[in-house]
Amino acid sequence: MTDLKRRKFLKQTGLGLAAAGSAGLILRADARPTLSSLSDTEAERVLIQMGPQPKETVLAKGELKKITPMPYGPFYKQGAPFRAKICPPFEPGTPFVMTGRVWAIDTRRPLPGVVLDLWHVDHEGKYSSGDGDFKNRGRLVTTETGYYEFESVRPIPYQPNPNFWRCAHFHVLAVCPGYKTLVTEIQFQDDPKREMDSMFQPSLAVAAEQKVMNGRKFETAVFDIVLERESGAK
Ligand SMILES: [Fe+2]
Repeated sequence: MTDLKRRKFLKQTGLGLAAAGSAGLILRADARPTLSSLSDTEAERVLIQMGPQPKETVLAKGELKKITPMPYGPFYKQGAPFRAKICPPFEPGTPFVMTGRVWAIDTRRPLPGVVLDLWHVDHEGKYSSGDGDFKNRGRLVTTETGYYEFESVRPIPYQPNPNFWRCAHFHVLAVCPGYKTLVTEIQFQDDPKREMDSMFQPSLAVAAEQKVMNGRKFETAVFDIVLERESGAK
């Protein structure tokens, strides 16, 4: 289409679009925002369109166990950036790399395109405000094989009040269309405060492994997430 024909076409379609040279099209300055037809719950979901999935082993029956849900707690904030390193550069603390996969309990296959929302305390046991300061907060999306990986610093136990200890944990929110939203925590088997926290769940506790790379120490662990089908979802 020549430039002249293209301009004529845009004028005739009356779509409220303005030509932006070779960069494509942008909305006219006075264009009204697109109205969303999604419910609040649906709007929180991100659908990833991908090509055919690689062949995956279907796990045997009984290999996947439901994940114990945990409360959001008071420090969850929406809108964390999408990134796989969720602490800032040179954040004090023990560098930590978490890996795992998200599985569907009904098909026993990995789930791609699951949004994981993560948040945790810093080395002083404090959460960031989450209103622009998203330190130690981040979201990521599972791959075609349901795999995820993120780096941060290992959270420490903290005291919400003088009479109560929380064992160290990463908060995790997992959202996937057709599956029940899961909120849970990743805790640590070697947590020094596990005996003092009634919310400590052995089934959620990972075995942290110490490693050295490039002469620097860090810890790593694996945590798989299992989601249940939403009732009525096909
Ligand atoms: Fe917490």
